[in-house]
Amino acid sequence: MNIGNGFYIETRWSWILAEIISCHLALLLLITLTACGGDVSQNKQFTPLARSVKSSSIRNEPISPLPESVEVNEHWLSLGRKLFHDKRLSANADVACVSCHDLSRGGADNKAVSQGMDLQSGNINTPTVLNSRYNFRQFWDGRAASLEQQIDGPMTSPFEMGGTWPDVLRKLKADKSYKQLFSQNFPDGVTKKNIKLVIAEYERSLITPNSPFDRYLRRDDTALSPQAIAGYQRFKALGCISCHQGINVGGNMFQHFGVMGDYFADRGNITEADYGRFNVTGLEEDRHKFKVPSLRNVALTAPYLHDGQAQTLEDAVRIMGKYQLGIELNDESVADLVAFLISLTGQMALISEQSAQEMAIDE
Ligand code: HEC
Ligand code: HEC
Repeated sequence: MNIGNGFYIETRWSWILAEIISCHLALLLLITLTACGGDVSQNKQFTPLARSVKSSSIRNEPISPLPESVEVNEHWLSLGRKLFHDKRLSANADVACVSCHDLSRGGADNKAVSQGMDLQSGNINTPTVLNSRYNFRQFWDGRAASLEQQIDGPMTSPFEMGGTWPDVLRKLKADKSYKQLFSQNFPDGVTKKNIKLVIAEYERSLITPNSPFDRYLRRDDTALSPQAIAGYQRFKALGCISCHQGINVGGNMFQHFGVMGDYFADRGNITEADYGRFNVTGLEEDRHKFKVPSLRNVALTAPYLHDGQAQTLEDAVRIMGKYQLGIELNDESVADLVAFLISLTGQMALISEQSAQEMAIDE
């Protein structure tokens, strides 16, 4: 399924079908060729669908490229997309998931801290939902183990959507279209579990492949400017990579914020949100520990850090140098690193709010 802007989602069914057909074809071919004494592997025409790029064509680096497409359940996805855009999920019907996770703003809101129902300010910066399937846990403090589990947070937080599950269930059950769509997909219809399943499935479709850096990883020598390549070399040489790594360039570990200096003492006004992982475990060693954020599409999601205090990528990079590595980065290093970070912007699904709304409506 092509859902716009060169963004492809393969449904399980079309894959299974393609698989069955190609298996049959391959078997048929094998029989024919064996009978004729031919060599199957040399017959290019019958090479199975190229599902992924051969690993040998990917550079051996501590960051791996995003796949160009992912398998998702198309029916769940469209139901999840509808819910993601539906303000009725909030108590006052004034906020939807998309209000804070705007796909045209890199899956976030470009505010220092989020703003929820009745324009109430939250206490922490909104992270992106893009590529969130690749984070090892969800939230800055990692308190949710899965995308499904994460959904309770915003739905019931008084600073976000302020709703209650019974209320949301009542509203959706009263809606003919939802009732029908849910019962087409689930024998038990509209339930809390099924709502979570479909929203999470939608989020799992929000990947952003083919960034210039991913194309570079796939050995496209023209994908990156010399400055971005220099920035990547610095990213590795300075040790940024020890925390921001893997397929999401982050999102796979917790780390202290302030390894080499006391960021919080320097900033002042410490709030509960600054305690990070400590709020979950109560362990002193977890105070000020956060999930290392993914740096994919980071150029789109200013301001930065859990407190939204870094206005620009340059600011964020200098803060990282100072508090995470104990070095003062010079202007040239900062510019190179920023050029590399900008090369992590991929192709976005449903790039504009409008196209997302249109799709939600015509389903
Ligand atoms: C009022 C703004 C707001 C709304 C509405 C909202 N979110 Fe969020 N979202 C946030 C903030 C802020 C965080 C970070 C909270 C934290 O880490 O403590 C977050 C975190 C997340 C994360 C975790 C990302 C990561 O990298 O850790 C996901 C996934 C997510 N939200 C999905 C949703 C879904 C689905 C909905 C609708 C049911 C939703 N959000 C509604 C502001 C919002
Ligand atoms: C010791 C681990 C560690 C190292 C080394 C490190 N970072 Fe980070 N980085 C983090 C953590 C943790 C955060 C989140 C801090 C917070 O907001 O609480 C972060 C946040 C960021 C952000 C802001 C992301 C956002 O969405 O708000 C950027 C940009 C960033 N790092 C880039 C870099 C660069 C460039 C380097 C190397 C100069 C680097 N980091 C080195 C752990 C690290």
